[in-house]
Amino acid sequence: MEETVVATPVKGKTAARSSSIPSEGIKLFKLKDVKPEKHKRISSKIGELDRVLGGGMMPGSVILIGGEPGIGKSTLLLQVTIKNPEKKIIYVAGEESAAQIKDRADRLGSISESCHISTELTVENLNEQLKKEKPNLIIVDSIQTLQSQNLESIPGTISQIRESAYQLINMAKYLNVPLFLVGHITKSGNIAGPKVLEHMVDTVLQFEGEHTGQLRLLRTTKNRFGSTAEIGVFEMQQSGLREVSNPSELLTRNDCEELTGTAVAIINEGIRPLMVEVQALVSPATYGTPQRTATGYDQKRLNMLLAVLEKKAGLKLSTRDVFVNIAGGLKIADTAIDMAMAAAIISSYLDIVIKQHTCFTGEIGLSGEIRNVNQFEQRLSEATRLGYKNIFARQKNAKEKNNVENIKRLIQLIGSQ
Ligand code: TYD
Ligand code: MG
Repeated sequence: MEETVVATPVKGKTAARSSSIPSEGIKLFKLKDVKPEKHKRISSKIGELDRVLGGGMMPGSVILIGGEPGIGKSTLLLQVTIKNPEKKIIYVAGEESAAQIKDRADRLGSISESCHISTELTVENLNEQLKKEKPNLIIVDSIQTLQSQNLESIPGTISQIRESAYQLINMAKYLNVPLFLVGHITKSGNIAGPKVLEHMVDTVLQFEGEHTGQLRLLRTTKNRFGSTAEIGVFEMQQSGLREVSNPSELLTRNDCEELTGTAVAIINEGIRPLMVEVQALVSPATYGTPQRTATGYDQKRLNMLLAVLEKKAGLKLSTRDVFVNIAGGLKIADTAIDMAMAAAIISSYLDIVIKQHTCFTGEIGLSGEIRNVNQFEQRLSEATRLGYKNIFARQKNAKEKNNVENIKRLIQLIGSQ
């Protein structure tokens, strides 16, 4: 159950919204006569961030960054201020005190001369301030801490979030500067305060990763100014977030030790292929009901995969505990990881090491068949670039011996390497 307080506007304050921004009259335009706006993208000076934004920030665009607490949203945006000392940036600090932000900036190594902190959390006053100061970039951390005088409800309620965002977005468009809004994520993974915000902004970015792992993925879920198929990869270090331009090397082991229960997958995150190491441990069940635990992989998919392996290939998995894990603390949505997952389970079950320079890409269906993957060529070239020689997939143009039709064949292949 979620309590929603019905907000009643405070009398006499409702006119404030429209008065601050001049209207241009009401006209109709013919679409073909509309002049294209010549916008130049503004670089954030952080390559991986620019990449997910579609090449940089658009003037007047509003970018919502969501993510669990502690994932690094504030760190990323503070690093934007550090990388852009020539821009006048206003950082609205609602989550932390100015001293805490200073502490963090010290940790990150430097403080930008032109970064200004505002602690004004009433959106009407904040807008006055922004109008007066004319910054080149606005960062609001977080939208949930702002409050409008127009409403009586407390900050963080849906109506307050919507109203504050609405007013700020109008101000960003009026000043024609980019605006970053930080938004918290609820337990179910949605940006709190919730879908309404996603509709109002131009770009929605999700910052993901496991706290225990250092890897952080920045994903676009909506972008009015670019593709949503890009991801940015960062590594959280002592001195802040570091860009990772070659994530595959970080996600696979480079040492020569051969272990059972590991396999390498080629997956597509966005449009960039990634090599990821998948691990599985199959051991006799100690208690009645066997345990199945998946980290970074969908639990339901794991159950399905185990059922298929049992029914279609005769592996006796119903009496075993099965644990699977994806290296680097990543959560992978690409189903092409299935084949590597099955290979890792088979490797652990049969106690056979999968040879080095071997990798897999393919989705597994309910009858044990392996399916084609999209963008096979890109995957192939990434794997080849990194020195993989045996690339197993269901693909007509793959080498004959590397074309795997079903899981029975996969087991044979692993057994006869
Ligand atoms: P933070 O940016 O505060 O997260 P968010 O704003 O998304 O809640 O990130 C805080 C985490 O990052 C914290 O757990 C410590 C870690 N961290 C580092 O490991 N190195 C650093 O240099 C910084 C600034 C933070
Ligand atoms: Mg924060």
